[in-house]
Amino acid sequence: MRDFEVRRMFDTIAGGYDMQNSVLSLRIDVLWRKRLARMLPADRPITVADVAAGTAEVSLEIVRQRPLSRVVGIDFTPAMLRVGHAKLARREPRGRVRLAAGDARRLPLRDASVDAVTIAFGIRNVQERAAALGEFFRVLKPGGRLLVLEFSLPDNALLRGLYRFYFDRVLPPFGNWLSRTDYAYSYLMESVHAFPDHQTFAAEIRDAGFADVDQTPLTGGIARIHSGVRPA
Ligand SMILES: C[S@@+](CC[C@H](N)C(=O)[O-])C[C@H]1O[C@@H](n2cnc3c(N)ncnc32)[C@H](O)[C@@H]1O
Repeated sequence: MRDFEVRRMFDTIAGGYDMQNSVLSLRIDVLWRKRLARMLPADRPITVADVAAGTAEVSLEIVRQRPLSRVVGIDFTPAMLRVGHAKLARREPRGRVRLAAGDARRLPLRDASVDAVTIAFGIRNVQERAAALGEFFRVLKPGGRLLVLEFSLPDNALLRGLYRFYFDRVLPPFGNWLSRTDYAYSYLMESVHAFPDHQTFAAEIRDAGFADVDQTPLTGGIARIHSGVRPA
């Protein structure tokens, strides 16, 4: 899918995005976002760029678990940001999260300006991954951390078979019906298949200049948190 098609798709499904996530993942995605937020430092004030922030679920989880943090959530789909803004008005009166329009490949942030970059279920949608990883590196302070949460294939063959059955056969028709589109969840399935395996993606993160590249499997490897550090 090209950029404008990705944006149009998220514009179409924005209103029901959170509900669809909850139903289709049985709320496991909530646990994964919590895990991501817990990987950020708790002992000092930090600034986080939450890229592909969508409806601000990750951004809000970060300030909930890391009260000293400030987050700028960046996304290129206006309708997702509108849902996010409405949610912030209800759930984040302290103003620690702000949302901004922007593209992962050209972040509207200064060089070496944030302590961490997070991106959840977003990198899979970016065609020019190397450009996005380069941007994450550029905006991180030396010593700053990148955390990428993304779907993945489980290592265990049985779990992988079950997961593929769900992803290939159940999710597309059910998700498309739930989102009242005929393509959104077919695209999700296709984009998960097109995304590189975790070893290849780790190599891409290293190629962008990151050190200490690692990955944490979640729920048997259905998703993973990839991490890297901009060398000091
Ligand atoms: C599946 S949603 C994830 C939203 C949120 N991070 C979450 O955990 O629910 C993917 C988001 O990535 C955004 N996105 C895709 N490509 C992007 C890009 N190149 N730059 C900025 N945002 C992008 C979409 O607009 C969409 O809001």
